[in-house]
Amino acid sequence: MDGTGAVKNKSPNETLPRHVGIIMDGNGRWALNKGIARTSGHTEGLKTARRIVETASLRGIRYLTLFVFSTENWKRASREVDFIMSLVKQHLTRELDFYRKNHIRIRHTGDITGLAPDIIAEIDEARADTKDFDGMQVILALNYGGRNAIVRAARRYLQNLPNVSCAEAADTLDENILSNNLDNPDLPDPDLIIRTAGEFRTSNFLLWEAAYAEYFITDKFWPDFSNEDFDAALAAYAARERRFGAATAGSGGKFGRRSNPRGEPVNQ
Ligand code: FPP
Repeated sequence: MDGTGAVKNKSPNETLPRHVGIIMDGNGRWALNKGIARTSGHTEGLKTARRIVETASLRGIRYLTLFVFSTENWKRASREVDFIMSLVKQHLTRELDFYRKNHIRIRHTGDITGLAPDIIAEIDEARADTKDFDGMQVILALNYGGRNAIVRAARRYLQNLPNVSCAEAADTLDENILSNNLDNPDLPDPDLIIRTAGEFRTSNFLLWEAAYAEYFITDKFWPDFSNEDFDAALAAYAARERRFGAATAGSGGKFGRRSNPRGEPVNQ
């Protein structure tokens, strides 16, 4: 590794993830620690999201997927759900100028049909308004679940098939077809998934697409996640050796990874 933490012989293009996904966890615990309402944690979480969007764009990230609201989050108190939805709406209205100025394209992933009409309208407007921008793409995962996304992709495939038998449909289905029927088939798979608040689980985020993603986990709660933390995640990613199932080049060793999910170096 050199001083930047990058693995030698990697070009800058390889050391910078093209697509970063973030599980923005810990808003509630952040608020609890301060003895304030959970909703205040979400308000602060939104500020962090806005800042990280800008930082990621400045760092040259091409795609940033933010896990805003899961298909499971409906189990929360309706007051909290309504509050998160109002934050999303407010963000899309108030920050449109920021997205325009930075040529950032807004997209959505998840089951849009399960969202309230006013949120759908706001998402549609933001998508239409920014669709031609060639800067970073921000994908808002809203009413998103990885399993739900896979099921919807399979359904899309079956619904668009000409009149063929189930056996024929089953015979033709493969990984490419499934990928091509996801919400945004043109997006590359995420290279790096960041998770805040210290949990080591996927929580149904990008299950299909994250097959070969590198994970970076920090104990920081999302409202406290700083630009330096984001840079630490990028540095940890640059230090990883991605093998996509192949053997480690040259070493013949068992472990290709040079840092663990917390970004701590691993001796080899
Ligand atoms: C996790 O904290 C966060 C959420 C459920 C989503 C809230 C996200 C935002 C307000 C940011 C929205 C960003 C954009 C760009 C619209 P948690 O409540 O699960 O925390 P806990 O696990 O500590 O309870």
